[in-house]
Amino acid sequence: MIQDIQPIVRNFRFICIVIIIAGTIIQFSDESEFVVDMSKLGLVHVPKDLPPKTEILDMSQNYISELQLSDISFLSRLKVLRLSHNRIQQLDFSVFKFNQDLEYLDLSHNQLQKLSCHPIVSFKHLDLSFNDFDALPICKEFGNLTQLNFLGLSATKLQQLDLLPISHLHLSYILLDLGGYYVKENETESLQILNMKTLHFVFHPDRLFSVQVNISVNTLGCLQLTNIKLNNKNCQVLITFLSELTRGPTLLNFTLNNVETTWKCLVGVFQFLWPKPVEFLSIYNLTIVEDISEEKFTYSKTALKALKIEHVTNEVFLFSQTALYTVFSEMNIIMLTISDSSFVHMLCPQAPSTFKFLNFTRNVLTDSIFQKCSTLVRLETLILQKNALKDFYKVGLMTKEMPSLEILDVSWNSLESPRHEENCPWVESIVILNLSSNILTDSVFRCLPPRVKVLDLHNNRIRSIPKEVMKLEALQELNVAFNSLTDLPGCGAFSSLSVLIIHHNSVSHPSADFFQNCHKIRSIQAGNNPFQCTCELREFVKNIGQASSEVVEGWPDSYKCHYPESYKGTLLKDFHVSQLSCNTALLMVTIGAAVLVLAVSVTFLCMYLDLPWYLRMVCQWTQTRRRARNIPLEELQRTLQFHAFISYSEHDSAWVKNELVPCLEKENIRICLHERNFVPGKSIVENIINCIEKSYKSIFVLSPNFVQSEWCHYELYFAHHNLFHEGSDNLILILLEPIPQNSIPSKYHKLRALMTQRTYLEWPTEKSKHGLFWANIRAAFNMKLILATENNDMQT
Ligand SMILES: *[C@@H]1O[C@H](CO)[C@@H](O)[C@H](O)[C@H]1NC(C)=O
Repeated sequence: MIQDIQPIVRNFRFICIVIIIAGTIIQFSDESEFVVDMSKLGLVHVPKDLPPKTEILDMSQNYISELQLSDISFLSRLKVLRLSHNRIQQLDFSVFKFNQDLEYLDLSHNQLQKLSCHPIVSFKHLDLSFNDFDALPICKEFGNLTQLNFLGLSATKLQQLDLLPISHLHLSYILLDLGGYYVKENETESLQILNMKTLHFVFHPDRLFSVQVNISVNTLGCLQLTNIKLNNKNCQVLITFLSELTRGPTLLNFTLNNVETTWKCLVGVFQFLWPKPVEFLSIYNLTIVEDISEEKFTYSKTALKALKIEHVTNEVFLFSQTALYTVFSEMNIIMLTISDSSFVHMLCPQAPSTFKFLNFTRNVLTDSIFQKCSTLVRLETLILQKNALKDFYKVGLMTKEMPSLEILDVSWNSLESPRHEENCPWVESIVILNLSSNILTDSVFRCLPPRVKVLDLHNNRIRSIPKEVMKLEALQELNVAFNSLTDLPGCGAFSSLSVLIIHHNSVSHPSADFFQNCHKIRSIQAGNNPFQCTCELREFVKNIGQASSEVVEGWPDSYKCHYPESYKGTLLKDFHVSQLSCNTALLMVTIGAAVLVLAVSVTFLCMYLDLPWYLRMVCQWTQTRRRARNIPLEELQRTLQFHAFISYSEHDSAWVKNELVPCLEKENIRICLHERNFVPGKSIVENIINCIEKSYKSIFVLSPNFVQSEWCHYELYFAHHNLFHEGSDNLILILLEPIPQNSIPSKYHKLRALMTQRTYLEWPTEKSKHGLFWANIRAAFNMKLILATENNDMQT
């Protein structure tokens, strides 16, 4: 199969390419240059400048009176030629001898009287109807038109063997225009037609029907008559005309168009057709004239299944309604359609009826229709679209007596919702109910057929689906488009819902859990609603976006934001807001977490790193620093009394007193030693601070003993923060004995830091290195500094 299709596909592609190329080369031509439309241009002649590639040429409704060989011979690709409604009087078929592809020729509605024949074999459609031919225009060459499907003819007289040349062809449609037919006195004509599917006679539109021809047909399937004008006198003429035509057992379809008749004659025609093999009888555009009175009708056994009458004009104003309706209501057929007829009523059949299908679209039937009518027991489909029904309750009540009713269409009426107190009368068999285009409101959901599967409520006045609705467990398809609903319905009451149509409502923030609730949904159409693009809509957009595009119809194009103004017109697909700005709980949690982290870190800092103490010290430090900055150098010099303060552990005092102090004092460096220079009466701390503040530098003698001494740490701390000396380069560290890193308690991290940062002076054990060590120490003192006490000494 696939292999078979491929060449076709390839050809198709080729054709497309050709069209595109042609379209680009001839830029000013129409979309396709193969079709040339020259209809209704008032042409008198065939134009000379037709594109030679023309395949379809329409020159209908002009004033062309002649068709010559040179007019069209160069159109070698011509397939379709429409020349209807012109003024051509003569035609020589040889003008088409170069149009070998011509298969469709419409010459109807001209003034043709004569044909000159010439063999053309390709015709499929040849229309010569509505011309001025006297006899049927059949050339013997038509016998070779083996592809001919449609043949349109016209004549004013008929002869039995007129159609003989084409009797072997299997035509599907003959249109025979007998508009100009006139009756010859005392003469009955006859015509034999063979092998035909559809035979269509058109008679004169204004003359009374008068054709008296015996037409015999073989295998006719479809008979159509157009323009029949009857009164009580010539009614028999039609029936005689039909008697031969309707004899064949194959005739199933009989159609009458534009019929003007008396009621008596119409009933007569029905009565004539009743025993015939016709199964489908249709009458379009029926006018009833003169009067309508009671006619006897015998409902014998009939093959007729369906009678369809569309568009009835009743020109009788005073008549018995019963006379009219009884003929129809008692018919023993299956399907009856009477539409567009201004019927105000229809009777209930007197005995159990055969009707399964009744269609009374576009009449003026009222609520009284079929009330308490218990004979429509087989009725399955009832269509009462576009009538004057008002009472919803009465419509329900009507169905109560129709035990087989499955489909009810009462759309386009004026039905109003039931009042609350009434009970609910629907027959249970209804599966499809069409209530669209009425004025129903929310309460319609309180009373519906319990087993309905398809419910059409579009174009009503529903604002919401009430909470306490009837359970419609069989409901599969619900159409509530064009109402004023503000939310999607839940599926609590409609547990089988699989199709929901709710476009053009007022749904602004649909519930997001719709898809969780309604898991049988196969299709939803919710476009063209005024969606509010705010946080609440996010979940819905997510869910609808996740559902496949087959489920969500019209997605994404008909789903747009309506509000707020800044989003108006944005497709829901493109609407995004962040998770955080929508979720209040999440926002609270985030803020809470941040606060908690801060609190924990502050607590940690306070408890383990002694933050408050540091803060206090830093505070002091900044204050002192500010103070210090305001003290000029001279004043500073005045306050300093020593070159150095020495801090050491009691255990190392021997080295300090025997080695360090003598060595420094030998260089005129004045030392503040706490046992020597301490002011009695002051606390130890005050003394230490005092001593440090009055000294230019502080020397620390580091050793494992020092590390263990609490006082020493204080001294180190104060010295480090002695801010009278800019640059705070006021510490000199002497490492007397090596200190293992881990022996420094962790709380003295200051010392640790100093140990790693600063270069300290190590006391060498070898005697030879002592000289360099002292030199280094001496270099650390700036001798230019003249101490306040020295000055005083000199003065004294
Ligand atoms: C209901 O009737 C309207 C027209 O009156 C039609 O368009 C619609 O398709 C019908 N609904 C169903 C479910 O048949």
